[in-house]
Amino acid sequence: MTRIALVTGANRGIGFEACRQLAQQGLHVILTSRDVAKGQAAAKALREEGLDISAHQLDVTDVDSVMALQAEIEVIFGRLDVLVNNAGVYLDEAVSIFDVSLEVWWLTQAVNFYGPLYLCRAFIPMMQLKGYGRIVNVSSGYGSMDEMDGYTAAYRISKLALNALTRIIASEITGHNIKINSMCPGWVHTAMGGPAAPKSPTAGADTITWLATLPDDGPTGSFFRDRQPIPW
Ligand SMILES: NC(=O)c1ccc[n+]([C@@H]2O[C@H](COP(=O)([O-])OP(=O)(O)OC[C@H]3O[C@@H](n4cnc5c(N)ncnc54)[C@H](OP(=O)(O)O)[C@@H]3O)[C@@H](O)[C@H]2O)c1
Repeated sequence: MTRIALVTGANRGIGFEACRQLAQQGLHVILTSRDVAKGQAAAKALREEGLDISAHQLDVTDVDSVMALQAEIEVIFGRLDVLVNNAGVYLDEAVSIFDVSLEVWWLTQAVNFYGPLYLCRAFIPMMQLKGYGRIVNVSSGYGSMDEMDGYTAAYRISKLALNALTRIIASEITGHNIKINSMCPGWVHTAMGGPAAPKSPTAGADTITWLATLPDDGPTGSFFRDRQPIPW
């Protein structure tokens, strides 16, 4: 049986690489992007590598389109096995908490926290019915209380909230063979990470792929970087 995976914000960066790695593991990957043309081009590039990829438009802040996609996946595949909440924005780098605009506060929470919330609420009931699910919330060390510091508050708090979502859902859904974990990809050379970042998208996506394909006795409700647990 081919497992079905969905990755958000996957037209570039770490999400794109996660699609490649999951498809290389034999999964069918639904590559989603907020821009239709960018998603189709990204999926085409991966199909040309011989990978099993389809593309679908998805702006994670649009709850109606999340529910419409859930209904479509139910009809086409009958299930979703893997959900990677990767889409993210980083709009207040090094800005003081006193200077972040309200618009940036709202948009950051909308993409980085409400998006994953909508997707979890849409897809976890399908996973519970099938008795299998792997959810990876792509977080950041910036959202760790252990590493909490000044500046970049909207981003930090959005990832802190995402980590809480991981813990709360892990606690509420026991007994259905569903694993939900947060991970930090490290500082990765993407549009978000910038050219000085030491880590490649391939290395950044590795822990996503590992968590998305955990065995039934794998961990849940934890936070990882480089496949190792890190403090909340
Ligand atoms: N790079 C790092 O060093 C680093 C470090 C820690 C954590 N992370 C996390 O890793 C994840 C991926 O980051 P990245 O470095 O690959 O960033 P990236 O290259 O900037 O890619 C971000 C992706 O998210 C998409 N996106 C933004 N808003 C969206 C929305 N409303 N709906 C759907 N997709 C949306 C973007 O789409 P468009 O192309 O349309 O803009 C893009 O595909 C993020 O959650 C980020 O917070 C990254």
